[in-house]
Amino acid sequence: MFEKFRFLTAGESHGKCLTAIIEGLPAGLEIDVDFINAELKRRQGGYGRGGRMKIENDTVEITSGVRFGKTLGSPLTMVIWNRDFENWQKIMSVNAKDFTDEKSFTAYRPGHADFAGSIKYNREDLRDILERSSARKTAIYVAVGAVAKLLLKHYGIECSSKILQIGSGKNEEEFCREIDLAKEAGDTVGGKFEVIVDNLPVGLGSHVHWDRKLDGRIAQAVMSIPAVKSVSFGDGEDAYKIFGSKFHDEIFLKENGEIYRKTNHSGGVEGGMTNGEPLVVRAVMKPIPTLRKPLNTVDFKQNEQTTAHFERSDTCAVEACAVVAEAMVACTLANEIMLVKPCDYL
Ligand SMILES: Cc1cc2nc3c(=O)[nH]c(=O)nc-3n(C[C@H](O)[C@H](O)[C@H](O)COP(=O)(O)O)c2cc1C
Repeated sequence: MFEKFRFLTAGESHGKCLTAIIEGLPAGLEIDVDFINAELKRRQGGYGRGGRMKIENDTVEITSGVRFGKTLGSPLTMVIWNRDFENWQKIMSVNAKDFTDEKSFTAYRPGHADFAGSIKYNREDLRDILERSSARKTAIYVAVGAVAKLLLKHYGIECSSKILQIGSGKNEEEFCREIDLAKEAGDTVGGKFEVIVDNLPVGLGSHVHWDRKLDGRIAQAVMSIPAVKSVSFGDGEDAYKIFGSKFHDEIFLKENGEIYRKTNHSGGVEGGMTNGEPLVVRAVMKPIPTLRKPLNTVDFKQNEQTTAHFERSDTCAVEACAVVAEAMVACTLANEIMLVKPCDYL
């Protein structure tokens, strides 16, 4: 499959840094580092976050691809340094001679990658799996997403997000109440959010192949975020509840010849392509699996029943997850824009 805007990331949760390389940016795009850092700050916010957020205070350092504030058309590399690395450099050392089993653990954490990851990668210390499966890497996704948003802004396209539900709470006051209740009980809570994208041109994506459908591509990108368990478009999740006559967005003609809709149940995508209505992507984040009131599990080394390892953790990260989802949607759309408007410079 051909792609234009691509990126790879690297970095462990408690490693030295997170890194991203973006390929496919045109030259001449203005890179506003303050905007990237403001996006990183948004990811660190939200009611219900754990102690780590106070340490992180993420900022990005651009190490290639930009000169005097504009892209060069070469790969753009970004780094987020881990401010807590000082306390982890022995535990995360790349040198064999530094080996330590401090912070090692062998009891699988339910809801995490530990069980399958340790079997697949033949690791005896579950920290080897925790470190990369952790959602810490979503910080660098947000930095890449911020660059994608700058590219989209050049074309007048804007992304935002909104929390729809936390547990059974449906407004801000109830969101906080649900999070407080979970925290008091040593528990966690998930939620539902939406990403909205305005001013998209008609026809991003395609109906002609399974892997070019825009809704499929966005679903993959958003579902890749740790803890996201469902992705839908517009009212898609409830589409089975109403008749077709009520679900589909009828098409009308204005006197001046303009075509318009009165509804947007389809969330701005029909036949795998944008239809000119706002794109509305909804997603559900599961409750965070690390609980103060720990879950039952098995320690494979001791071969005994036990409870899961607890490490500093969030009670609810739905607000942060929505910011990460904006980033993943923006990256997908930046690629689509570059596919239909290929350019070496702006
Ligand atoms: C922004 C964000 C913050 C998260 N914070 C935590 C956390 O503090 N503790 C935790 O156990 N899981 C946290 N998670 C969720 C786990 O990373 C996730 O449940 C795990 O990787 C398995 O997800 P999966 O089954 O969807 O792949 C967070 C996820 C996101 C998106």
